[in-house]
Amino acid sequence: MGKIILTGDRPTGRLHLGHYVGSLRERVALQEKGGYDEMFVFIADVQALTDNAANPEKVRQNVIEVALDYLSVGLDPEKVTIFIQSMVPQLHEMTQFFSNLVTVARLQRNPTVKTEIRMRGFGEEGGEQQAFGSGVPVGFFTYPISQAADICFCKATTVPVGEDQEPMLEQCREIVRSFNTIYGPVLVEPEILLPSKSVCRRLPGTDGKAKMSKSLGNCIYLADDPAEVKKKVMSMFTDPGHLKVEDPGKVEGNCVFTYLDAFAEPEDFPRFWPEYGSLDEVKDHYRRGGLGDVKCKKFLLAVLEDRLAPIRERRARWEKDIPGVYEILRKGSEKACAVAAKTLHEMKDAMKINYFDDAALIAEQAEKYNR
Ligand code: TRP
Repeated sequence: MGKIILTGDRPTGRLHLGHYVGSLRERVALQEKGGYDEMFVFIADVQALTDNAANPEKVRQNVIEVALDYLSVGLDPEKVTIFIQSMVPQLHEMTQFFSNLVTVARLQRNPTVKTEIRMRGFGEEGGEQQAFGSGVPVGFFTYPISQAADICFCKATTVPVGEDQEPMLEQCREIVRSFNTIYGPVLVEPEILLPSKSVCRRLPGTDGKAKMSKSLGNCIYLADDPAEVKKKVMSMFTDPGHLKVEDPGKVEGNCVFTYLDAFAEPEDFPRFWPEYGSLDEVKDHYRRGGLGDVKCKKFLLAVLEDRLAPIRERRARWEKDIPGVYEILRKGSEKACAVAAKTLHEMKDAMKINYFDDAALIAEQAEKYNR
């Protein structure tokens, strides 16, 4: 069986370096490597609305931002189908059928949803102890089911995402197994594809906090200009104990080194810091003492700029053709609809609810009433 790749992002803001090392870079590498049957990348506006119901304008504005970010990292609409979730109505029908296969208790165990509910303060009416108080919107509570439909409509085999999405993938696999057992073997169990370097699975923010996140204000965005990137890198969290250059420094928990782990390649040393042959040499020197933060930050900045400059250039070109970008999304959405309609038809066949195509059913009922 062929390989079908699918992934997506919520349009609630511009994409940042965490998205880049966690998934975008992987997608472009997959695209360049080829060898897959189809690759779908989509903008999850329906999912974004599950906790932004009162703010549809935010979602509406960010659809194009995410599309521009996709195109600017190098996703090629000739090789990848890019679409908008809400433009594929079949996903809702699938979600409805899937929701009959999932219990409330199962949804309540989803660790990602639990954390998100706590972060958003939805739990309040149920009290501190109860993540799922009555204040949680039903659509938000059930979004893992809708996410299973996102993955299943194209029978995705491979889903490149960050590790926070593992519970969603597990939920999807359970739904697939349940559907296939009850109705017949229609759907495919997907596998998660995590970045090979563990540091890329959860890139910390520039302040050293566990995750780069818009709400924490600790992001470097793909669309940031060079001055912004420089400012953010130069004020990055390092080792608070490393006061003088001569002091021994800590590399663990030091953002500059975490980012270098995520971004630096062996070729970067001859190009940007020929005094050192590898990141290990730099780390050893920093640990011994005698290597200042500013030098390390300048190297990191050179590496980041090397990656970001072509992204920025591509973005500038696409920004000049916004109607063309919407056209790409429209074509992609049409293609996704066709694929989803086919899978939905197969699902309904298996469920035996394609009544009008079911000559045997019609004949059987006619016979029953005209015996
Ligand atoms: N939940 C993902 C996120 O928050 C977005 C998403 C929605 C997704 N549906 C998906 C990712 C299906 C992969 C596959 O980023």
